[in-house]
Amino acid sequence: MSSVETLAQQVATGARTGDPCIVVVFGAAGDLTKRKLFPAIYNLLRGDLLSANFAILGVDREEATVESFRNKIAAEIKQFATVEIEPDKWDWIAQRIHYLPGDFTAPESYKALADRLPKIDEKHGTQGNFMFYLATPPRFFSPIARQLGTAGLTREDGNAWRRIVIEKPFGRDLASAAALNQELQSVMSETQIFRIDHYLGKETVQNIIVFRFANGIFEPVWNNTWIDNVQITVAESVGVEGRGGYYDRAGALRDMVQNHMFQLLALTAMEPPARFAADAIRDRKKEVHLSIRPFTRQDVLDNVVRGQYAAGTVAGRSVAAYRAEPSVAADSVTETFVALKMFIDNQRWSGVPFYLRTGKALPARVSEIAIQFKQSPYSVLPEEYRANARPSSLVLRIQPDEGIFLHFAAKEPGVLPKLDMVGMDFCYSRYFGKEASSGYETLLYDCMIGDPMLFTRADNLEKCWSIVEPVIGTWEELKGERLYPYPAGTWGPDKADELIRRDGRQWRRLTA
Ligand code: BG6
Repeated sequence: MSSVETLAQQVATGARTGDPCIVVVFGAAGDLTKRKLFPAIYNLLRGDLLSANFAILGVDREEATVESFRNKIAAEIKQFATVEIEPDKWDWIAQRIHYLPGDFTAPESYKALADRLPKIDEKHGTQGNFMFYLATPPRFFSPIARQLGTAGLTREDGNAWRRIVIEKPFGRDLASAAALNQELQSVMSETQIFRIDHYLGKETVQNIIVFRFANGIFEPVWNNTWIDNVQITVAESVGVEGRGGYYDRAGALRDMVQNHMFQLLALTAMEPPARFAADAIRDRKKEVHLSIRPFTRQDVLDNVVRGQYAAGTVAGRSVAAYRAEPSVAADSVTETFVALKMFIDNQRWSGVPFYLRTGKALPARVSEIAIQFKQSPYSVLPEEYRANARPSSLVLRIQPDEGIFLHFAAKEPGVLPKLDMVGMDFCYSRYFGKEASSGYETLLYDCMIGDPMLFTRADNLEKCWSIVEPVIGTWEELKGERLYPYPAGTWGPDKADELIRRDGRQWRRLTA
């Protein structure tokens, strides 16, 4: 999705590829590079979306040669590509792969980089456009940005652009995120910074805006007159999968809520943007975050539930307790589950609770946004026929069965006017076919054309941190108190059910 007005036509006619550029990947030997970046680059090539003037320069500590790096990637792409690799297409990419061994913190690495880039640029005609992709652990974000700045590599001369792409986690609280923003902005301008939230790259997430604003029928009921509550769930069946070292310092609130879930919330709740353009949309999202009712300490105690998985069974597989995961402290008080209730204090949403829940080692992998409508004000049908009737709901299903479902009451066939709940399904893959994607294609492409719509702006990111600050603070003070265990393979601790039950509501029952 892009804010460039005629992009759709240009892409359709093959006229608009990404700009000529070199993608410089810091962390080229890492997981993200092989799992996401190369498969995405391959898919962009398949879609004719890469410029013919394109190159990749991998930077990492490993003392590899260009040949050994190319061979490694060529072997890995077979495993991680989302489609069958065609040899001639892969050769095209392979010829454009370069490698530079170097320590991310050593100034010599940046001298070598500054020396190497013009040569690659000349060879491939990339017009001085460099995209620095930081696929590294977060402790390197600041040092890399600073050194790029010192080496003069972030300076944009003439038409040549210099962009930096930063993976998450972006800070671990408001202060560290603000410090990182300052550091980045001291060597480049905000327009050069592309902060990734990979949820924004998901097709279904992008569709929230289209669904809401390209259809005349939903917006009139998208408010507190018609909507009773909104439930956003991001459930994962996996545990921490070898990322215990990172996760134990993060936890579900930092890992999922502050970023991905707050983005889903903003897209669901925002006002129509003035234009289909990056800042118009990002301004609207920010307004939502500004209107979120701040959590007091008492709100945290009453309306935020945290849990940690104990041993259990997920889909027939035994799962060890979180505390037994590698690199997790045996007495860890890190939450692997969060459920919370929040309010958006504005005209549209006043009084409508937003319930959010996310967790690891849950029974299923399901992400969805459920809009629960109010009960119809009056039902002509007698009570005895309405036993199975529920208020209608509209579900935007993010993954895995991407689609949109409307649940509503209908009369069961038969003599008696008995009601039951039925559903209308829109399923992406059935309608459009299954598009193979790593989820990074749009993000890389948008960075190549300079469209920041799907990236997080500094002020917005800091606002999201400030919303969770009271939660972080209260939990730190509570230490292990009020951290509720739940067996792996269940929908979180009972307290999460209580949170919503006491409002006379319940979580949607989800299945895989
Ligand atoms: C990442 C988190 O940002 O998102 C992971 O760090 C999580 O812990 C992942 O598993 C989920 O992403 P997806 O695309 O699989 O829903």
